[in-house]
Amino acid sequence: MNSPSPNPSEDRPSKHSQSDRFAREPEVVQIGGVELKLAHPYEAAGDWIGQNELLMQLLACWLTVDETDIPLTPRLIGSPGVGKTQLAIAATKRQGLPLYIYQCTADTRPEDLLITPVLSRGGEIAYHASPLVSAMITGGVCILDEGNRMNEKSWASLAPLFDTRRYVESIVAGITIPASPEFRSAVTMNQDESTFEIPDYILSRLQPTLQVGFPNKQDEMAILQYHLPFAEPEMLALTVDFLQRSHELKLDFSPRDGINLLRFAIKRMKQNPSHPVAHDAAWQEALEKCLGDEAVDLESLAERRKRTLGGDAVPLGLADLFFDSDDPLHPDREDDDDDDLI
Ligand SMILES: Nc1ncnc2c1ncn2[C@@H]1O[C@H](COP(=O)(O)OP(=O)(O)OP(=O)(O)O)[C@@H](O)[C@H]1O
Ligand SMILES: [Mg+2]
Repeated sequence: MNSPSPNPSEDRPSKHSQSDRFAREPEVVQIGGVELKLAHPYEAAGDWIGQNELLMQLLACWLTVDETDIPLTPRLIGSPGVGKTQLAIAATKRQGLPLYIYQCTADTRPEDLLITPVLSRGGEIAYHASPLVSAMITGGVCILDEGNRMNEKSWASLAPLFDTRRYVESIVAGITIPASPEFRSAVTMNQDESTFEIPDYILSRLQPTLQVGFPNKQDEMAILQYHLPFAEPEMLALTVDFLQRSHELKLDFSPRDGINLLRFAIKRMKQNPSHPVAHDAAWQEALEKCLGDEAVDLESLAERRKRTLGGDAVPLGLADLFFDSDDPLHPDREDDDDDDLI
């Protein structure tokens, strides 16, 4: 295990020392007499473009200002494809720390998050540390990706890790694992229906909440250029205009959608050099195939969404068709005066 440094924020390894650091990292460590095989850190290319304030807020969570201080574990929320995971990856790279990503799912069991026993060739049990436990031991960052896909039972096993105790207990291996002082974490969360409600005692440990919003026009162009440096300016402009219009209309098309549609359009244009597909035609086709027919007319889509949301907010019963909601004859009307008559 890493020796604890008095103030991890001060002597954090620089980018140059990162490869030495990985080289020194043992693949197998002993904790409480149990041998643990560590997961490999994830080597990702990831810069964060624009919205610098968000990156600074995330980095501030991971700072420690005193020997007695502990880092915070923030929640990164926002629409799918807006850049939550990318933000956490970029912040980790900025710190020069090893990166581990744990993809949370509805099937994640508490032990999957910690230590999994695996039958080795010799018939013995080998204990494999999860990306989370590997980050705790090596002093890296663990991104718990899409955290609200995981159920309460799994979250409960992490309660001591995300308060001042900073440890986890593996029932399977029968050991308690303390986190290195350099261990940092962040949780990304998606706002869709297929997620669990995380209990309050866990949410109160995952603070602050950082909302990742859609990028402005200039940043969105830079993001697309960064991921697709071979895209022609005309195609980039069409995509950025589309995305910005969709953000204005409060629709959920994201930079990821833009990257995918542009990638497909470029491939279609390059497919047959003797009969090149026109820019516009390729872009329109990619729009329909990647984002669906409804994306072709953003204004109508926004109107339909607005109506659906409005309809959901005021559910109509049969009586509502015949009586106004404040009509004294409305059968479901709650009469405030009833109490007074008793
Ligand atoms: N500011 C940014 N800088 C660089 N790349 C970005 C930025 N925002 C988004 N991207 C790119 O957009 C794509 C989607 O981002 P990412 O996967 O981080 O989204 P997400 O919010 O985590 O989505 P999900 O909720 O589906 O997990 C990625 O390819 C990412 O690199
Ligand atoms: Mg993500």
